[in-house]
Amino acid sequence: MSSLPQFVRLDNAYTTIIFDCQGRSPSLLYMGEPLSTATDGAMLSLLSTRQEAKCAPVVEPPVSLVPTHGEGITSAPGLEVFGQQDEWSAGFQTTAIEQQGLKVTFIGEDEHRNMLLVTQVVLDENSSVATYKSTLTNTGSQAVNLAYLNAASLTLPMNVTKIKTFEGRWSNEFQTADHDLFFGSYVRENRRGKTSHDTFPGLIAFPQGTSELAGECFGFHLGASANHKLRAEVMADGRSYVQFGELLFPGEVQLAAGESYSSPVLYSGFGCEGFSSLSQQFHNYIRSNVLKHNADSKPRPVHYNTWEGIYFDHDVDTLKALADKVAPLGVERFVLDDGWFKGRRSDKAGLGDWTVDESIYPEGLGPLIDHVTGLGMEFGIWFEPEMVNPDSDLYRAHPQWALQTKNNPHVPFRNQLVLDLTNPDVVEYLYKVITDVLSTYPKISYIKWDMNRDVNHPGNLKGKPAMHGQIPALYQLIQRVKDAHPGIEIESCCSGGGRVDLGILQHTDRFWTSDSNDALDRLRIQRGFSYFFPSEVMGAHVGPRDCHITGRNIPIEMRAAVAMFGHMGIEMDPRELTEQETGALKDAITLYKSFRHLTHSGDLFRMDDDKLNVKFGYVSKDKSEAVFAYNSVVETPKTTPLRFLFAGLDSAKSYRITRVWPEKLKEYSPSILQTADGKVFTGEALMKFGLQMPVLFPQTALIYKLDAV
Ligand code: GLA
Repeated sequence: MSSLPQFVRLDNAYTTIIFDCQGRSPSLLYMGEPLSTATDGAMLSLLSTRQEAKCAPVVEPPVSLVPTHGEGITSAPGLEVFGQQDEWSAGFQTTAIEQQGLKVTFIGEDEHRNMLLVTQVVLDENSSVATYKSTLTNTGSQAVNLAYLNAASLTLPMNVTKIKTFEGRWSNEFQTADHDLFFGSYVRENRRGKTSHDTFPGLIAFPQGTSELAGECFGFHLGASANHKLRAEVMADGRSYVQFGELLFPGEVQLAAGESYSSPVLYSGFGCEGFSSLSQQFHNYIRSNVLKHNADSKPRPVHYNTWEGIYFDHDVDTLKALADKVAPLGVERFVLDDGWFKGRRSDKAGLGDWTVDESIYPEGLGPLIDHVTGLGMEFGIWFEPEMVNPDSDLYRAHPQWALQTKNNPHVPFRNQLVLDLTNPDVVEYLYKVITDVLSTYPKISYIKWDMNRDVNHPGNLKGKPAMHGQIPALYQLIQRVKDAHPGIEIESCCSGGGRVDLGILQHTDRFWTSDSNDALDRLRIQRGFSYFFPSEVMGAHVGPRDCHITGRNIPIEMRAAVAMFGHMGIEMDPRELTEQETGALKDAITLYKSFRHLTHSGDLFRMDDDKLNVKFGYVSKDKSEAVFAYNSVVETPKTTPLRFLFAGLDSAKSYRITRVWPEKLKEYSPSILQTADGKVFTGEALMKFGLQMPVLFPQTALIYKLDAV
């Protein structure tokens, strides 16, 4: 044991992470800006040595990666376990530390209680993002019950005083709020059985003063697609830490002899130049480690989604007419949403019966698919595999396949129940019906995989909680479908953005960000989404003229400008388009195609929120081109707005600036738009001095393209 290192250090160009391994179990000593090799763990440990304080332990127990009762902690436990004897008081002695490059595995044993605890940390090569995952193995002969195992508890730097959190509701996801860290715990627990609209498993910790473009910050996101628990605590002695893990139901995980439980993965990242720099790190990580396509290998095709256009009103001729309308606009993928399968004339029936409804599609989907692909578009289709309507053949045949608990009435939710994916028969059925559709129609190349209710009674056939087993079974099912139909792409949807996380993104390709297509609301939703996720996975559609969710009437130019900065699509009845709107939409799609390589691979720079405008831009890695958006939301409180300060450019380079959107502007003083347009300015001038913005009507977006000359 004496041969174990006292400190473990992971370094790359973006960060240094040091673990203190002097005690029984490892803890995070430092994460942040890269340190020189002259600074080492021993030095930091010495600097942080504390005196014995009055009425306090001689030495405070550490906040280790997995704090245990065995350590005598007074922080929140990272492990809650119990059995017939004294398992609850497990305490681990590190017995091995295996480091290979940027990957380190800490192995701790409790010989007395026969448990093995492994925490694996991997620092990415090309970003500051590190992953943490803990696994507990029962090495004894008696079963033990596991109530909680965190992915990791990570101590925060001393200067961190604030957290940015993410919350919302259906059709208003990813709203951010900044809070002061306080003496005690900020805790969020999600029991919805999906990542949820209201409690996104992530937060950003930062010192007072950090803004979008300056200052340090530390981001944390748990890649968990269902129940989770997150905590940010300031302890009595002034230390603070964050802790993330899966939230388990009582008795949910029992480990028989030899069995293991692994936590979801916690992703941590560091940004040294504001929240935008942190987002860039997460985006880089996701682009190189998670996504299967990049901007070069396959540009994100423009979608047409039928949902807000026709809802359940399916009819082959109408759908063909819609395809005829949208193809000339530049649409590249046509997604047939809810309503195509047996008995699905409304949300009251049909879920579970995944065969084509012959009363609507007498010749099957073939004629529609051929029509769509004949117009040069890919064809995608909607499924909600995890659900069943009681009014369905599936439910009538297998009512016991739905998750339920005895003697407790279901909580009504969109007329549907959740299937028990821990039952292999259910998974086999779903695999078969989904792949049957895909095999019958090999031209289907895309699935929108939806999930539209909370899981309130996650009890399986044995009456045990099944939530923990549900998610790996889901991931496996998606993966099997993908393996059986190579190349098929899958969108993760959950009543909009209710299942947006890095757990599910490992198996999918795109998120439906929100059911709100209201461009103004979308600006904030997409902004919140962008803290962790890159724009190419952010489904963003141009909705109807009168938004179906908010009733707002927003001009086509604004709706299009907002959708252009995600993975763009259209979701409306295109028959409502006027000639002017048709032209604008076509031009917007052409414009999106001209810069999607940039927004889908470049660095995102968000400007600070002034509560008036939403401003951001994407700059290519080599800083040779950029695209910036200035979205005027409310009227300027001064007679004229302020100058727009660009960001992320190369000060030394010169850029030609072109206003590329909108083509025509209804405003008072069009003259000013022409002043700088097409002229060349230094990056320095654009960033330090800025460009005067015109007086705009609210609900107007300007897009500028910058090209280095
Ligand atoms: C959810 C999705 C929508 C749509 C409907 C269909 O609400 O978020 O985009 O697919 O289901 O029922």
